[in-house]
Amino acid sequence: MSQYAHDKIIPYSKADGSKKEQVASMFNAIAKRYDFLNRFLSLGIDQGWRKKAIAQFEQKKMQHLLDIATGTADMALMAHRLIEPTKITGIDISEGMMEYGRIKIKAKGLADIIDLQLGDSTAIPFKDNSFDGAMVAFGVRNFADLEKGLSEIYRVLTPGSKLVILEFSQPTSFWFNPIYSLYMKWITPTIGKIFSGNKAAYAYLNESVIAFPEGQAFLTIFEKTGFTQVSQKKLSLGICSIYQGSK
Ligand SMILES: C[S@@+](CC[C@H](N)C(=O)[O-])C[C@H]1O[C@@H](n2cnc3c(N)ncnc32)[C@H](O)[C@@H]1O
Repeated sequence: MSQYAHDKIIPYSKADGSKKEQVASMFNAIAKRYDFLNRFLSLGIDQGWRKKAIAQFEQKKMQHLLDIATGTADMALMAHRLIEPTKITGIDISEGMMEYGRIKIKAKGLADIIDLQLGDSTAIPFKDNSFDGAMVAFGVRNFADLEKGLSEIYRVLTPGSKLVILEFSQPTSFWFNPIYSLYMKWITPTIGKIFSGNKAAYAYLNESVIAFPEGQAFLTIFEKTGFTQVSQKKLSLGICSIYQGSK
C-alpha cells in the first residue's frame, strides 16, 4: 500500500468506491468534453507542453512506446506525428476516454499503429522489458498508488530506455502564484461545470495538484522506484513540469 497523502485525494468525497473506481467513473463522465476543456482551460498551451515532453525522447527510431493513462490519445497521436515509433500502445482505466481516443485514431487511419487497451498502471498487463519508451501525461497525479505505478512502468521498460512524465506543478513566482490559485480554485471548476456538468471533476483537479508531491519530493519517489538520471524541467512559470528518468 502506498503511503502518500495525494493517493487519498478522491474526486467524490461523499461517495463510495476506491480511488481507481472513482477516477475511472469521473473520466468516463467528462470524456465527451475532455479535449475541448483541455484546450480551453489551458488556452491551448498544453499542446506546447506535450510537444516538449515528447521531444525528450532521443531521435533514434523507437520500436514500441507505451502511453500510460492515455485518455483520449492526444499524446499517442502527437508522438506518432513527431517521433514515429513503430508501434504505440496506450493504456487507461477509463473506457469512456479511450472510446474518444479510438475515434481520433481511426479518423487518422492509424489503428494498425496505435492500440488502446484497458489497463491499470498498478498492474500493467505486459511482460517485463516490453517497451523502449514510456510516457504519462497528467496521469501520475491520478494513480491510486504512485509508487506501484512507477515500479510497474520500470518493470515493462527495456534497460536503458526512458520514462517521460508531464504533470502539473505549483508556480514559484510570488506575483503569479495567487492569480494561478484563484484560477484553479474558482474559475476552473466553474468553467468545468458549465461545459461538462461536472464541477467535482474540476475541483478534484485543483485538489489533486495541490496534494501531489512535486519537484524534489517527486524526484525522490521516482528514484526510489528504480529510475536513474531523474530530472525535472519546469514549464510556463512552473505550472507544469516534465520529469524524466531512465531504467
Ligand atoms: C487528465 S487525464 C490525461 C489523459 C491524457 N494522458 C492526456 O494527456 O490528455 C488522466 C487519465 O489518467 C487515467 N488514469 C488514472 N489513473 C490511472 C491508472 N491507475 N492507470 C491507468 N490510467 C489511469 C484516467 O482514466 C484519465 O484518462
